[in-house]
Amino acid sequence: MQIPATVKRPAGSPAPLSAPVPEIGRAPLRALSLSVAHLAAATAPRIATGIAELDRVLGGGLVDGSFVLLGGDPGQGKSTLVLQAVHALCRTDRDGALYASAEESTQQVALRADRLNITNERISLAGLETGDEIEAVLDLASQIAPTVLVIDSVQAFRSRDLDSAPGSMAQVGAVAQRLSRFAKETQTPVIAIGQVTKDGELAGPKALEHLVDVVLYLEGAGGVRRRLVTPKNRHGSTDEVGLFEMRESGLASVEDPTAAALSERAQGVPGSAVFPAVVGERVQLVEIQALVGAPKGDDRPKGSLAASGVDPKRVQMILAVLARHARIDVTDRDVFVSVTAGARVADPAADLAIALAIASSARDLPIDPTCACFGELGLAGELRSVAYHASRSLESGRGGFPFVLSPGGDAKTLDDAIASAIGEAVRS
Ligand code: TYD
Ligand code: MG
Repeated sequence: MQIPATVKRPAGSPAPLSAPVPEIGRAPLRALSLSVAHLAAATAPRIATGIAELDRVLGGGLVDGSFVLLGGDPGQGKSTLVLQAVHALCRTDRDGALYASAEESTQQVALRADRLNITNERISLAGLETGDEIEAVLDLASQIAPTVLVIDSVQAFRSRDLDSAPGSMAQVGAVAQRLSRFAKETQTPVIAIGQVTKDGELAGPKALEHLVDVVLYLEGAGGVRRRLVTPKNRHGSTDEVGLFEMRESGLASVEDPTAAALSERAQGVPGSAVFPAVVGERVQLVEIQALVGAPKGDDRPKGSLAASGVDPKRVQMILAVLARHARIDVTDRDVFVSVTAGARVADPAADLAIALAIASSARDLPIDPTCACFGELGLAGELRSVAYHASRSLESGRGGFPFVLSPGGDAKTLDDAIASAIGEAVRS
């Protein structure tokens, strides 16, 4: 099959591909005062990709010379995201991108480009095979000086410095080292894709993470949803989360995460609480669900707890507070707590929402449909204040939940909050 004109193949033939990489002189060592170095990092020019969710997670866009590792399970959409990103990038006045694929053939990449409706003369596609030398790619990159270099994937290449097989820990480390040097010496941003192995780890994670400036993970977040997280980011916060949906023609940014998280929420059902979670610089409403099983017989007096998206130890504490201070003792029952859409909440501010969801399920009474709630629970059953009070309240109202139960309001204790959210019936 011919490579469609949608993606241009670089002029490089196998001959220049195997030419040695020209050594580039090192810049003399220079010391900066901490304040200057800090200022330089903070004001580093960003190359916005134009994909809002990706740019936010990156901290505003790609930084020149930065080495980004994009990990994730096969099939999550890593290659799709990167192709869309370089396309968006190359629509601006930037010179162009080099996409080196050894994971898939040029035909497969071209088919994906076709599906994504990507026609871009500024993207050069280098088709390689598993086990090809990374030095050849860098040689080509030195010739065409792209704005951004994409490596798909880091496991598929090998460095001529080592004899071991591609994909081995040593090879992945050597390939990453080469890429890191190239990024720093030429100030070209490099995005390398890394597959997560069956053990759930990025191949050679320890060998890679110290070499890269930014680690991104693309992971499933329920159905077609994808979440982009950044466990390491030298150029920005590690708290930002990007949300996408995999559609027929690629990954689409989810611009209203609150609407997306609550779109499938069942109305008037017990065991569901709405919580304004702080995710990076945004507040996003999420649904916390609880299901409390029937009481156990005397032969099985102790219940079990299954928690997903929240810390089970925290839920244990909340169960004890519910039993001791709100007369809702479900310690002899099976309790399930989960945050919908695969979201994760590790914030004590979610205590109240978890407690109300459990209380609502235990009493089989729904929470007021206009209610969102947040607040930390103390061991005496008191509601304690949390950070971002104003923004959480604001986002709750904006999301259609004007009745906000939070610390500092009329409800001083968990018992008060249960009465307000679920109604007086629970007190009888
Ligand atoms: P891909 O980017 O190949 O994943 P990765 O590089 O992480 O292995 O995307 C894989 C899946 O995404 C594949 O199963 C098909 C699906 N997909 C869509 O649903 N829509 C699209 O527009 C594209 C390109 C892929
Ligand atoms: Mg891929």
